[in-house]
Amino acid sequence: MSVFNEHILRDKVAIVTGGATGIGKVIARTLGLHGAAVVIASRKRDVLDTAKAELQAEGIQCLAMVADVREPDAVEAVVDATLEHLGRIDILVNNAAGNFPATIDNISYNGFKAVVDIDLLGTYNVTKAVYTAFMKDHGGAVINIAAPFEHWGVTYQAHVAAAKTGVISLTRTCAVEWAARGIRVNAIAPGQVDDTEGLDRFEQAVEGITSGLSGTKQDIANAVLFLVSDAARFISGECIRVDGAACVDMLKVGAE
Ligand code: COA
Repeated sequence: MSVFNEHILRDKVAIVTGGATGIGKVIARTLGLHGAAVVIASRKRDVLDTAKAELQAEGIQCLAMVADVREPDAVEAVVDATLEHLGRIDILVNNAAGNFPATIDNISYNGFKAVVDIDLLGTYNVTKAVYTAFMKDHGGAVINIAAPFEHWGVTYQAHVAAAKTGVISLTRTCAVEWAARGIRVNAIAPGQVDDTEGLDRFEQAVEGITSGLSGTKQDIANAVLFLVSDAARFISGECIRVDGAACVDMLKVGAE
């Protein structure tokens, strides 16, 4: 049972990129269970169809669209379809991301570019399209899913750390440029999250990587829900780590 009132997002419309799987799907479900109509956008039709059916089975109004956030035309098609079918866009969650664990010498130029293209440029593409088509004149809330690598070096994640730190910077700039238009822009930096493709990839690639201090997908979705709700109406330009203090516990005492 949610600690939030189930109607706090009633009449709101949310777009969640990468919303067909993993953390994105739980974010879409959580926003939907609190009243929002949700638009999920992902690269693959099969996972979109499955997620849409699951969300609708729980009474959530859902639109599912194939789109790669790297392609501005596809992104604009999602925004146009959302406005055509649902009439507004109150919430955008930039969750779509690409990641593979590799040391710098094992990341090719194209591999580094692919991750920056998806994580940083993709976030820019979707945010700009939503801003231009709707939020500019109506306000709204944007959440960027970042990573807790802003202040530390992190091995196996050079490409992701660079891209996600750029996302945090973009978050702050959008927040200050758009504050007067009633748009709040925040980031969430998840730590290790159980039962995700990202953690699976790490466990396969790097022996003994698991710290033991793991959160759940619902922990991340709850942080999103708080930040897009009116309870956070004066919070903008912020990045909140949701990692159980893993990042500040440099000696990993809490993970023992
Ligand atoms: N180690 C090293 N390089 C890798 C790699 C790995 N595990 N996985 C992919 N790459 C490289 C590829 O070799 C390619 O580089 P090359 O052209 O020099 O050979 C480059 O990355 C792009 O890969 P490709 O699969 O063609 O790109 P894509 O756009 O289809 O996929 C990725 C993007 C690379 C981010 C891919 O991992 C992906 O689709 N991820 C989506 C799911 C995901 O990342 N989930 C976890 C989220 S935390």
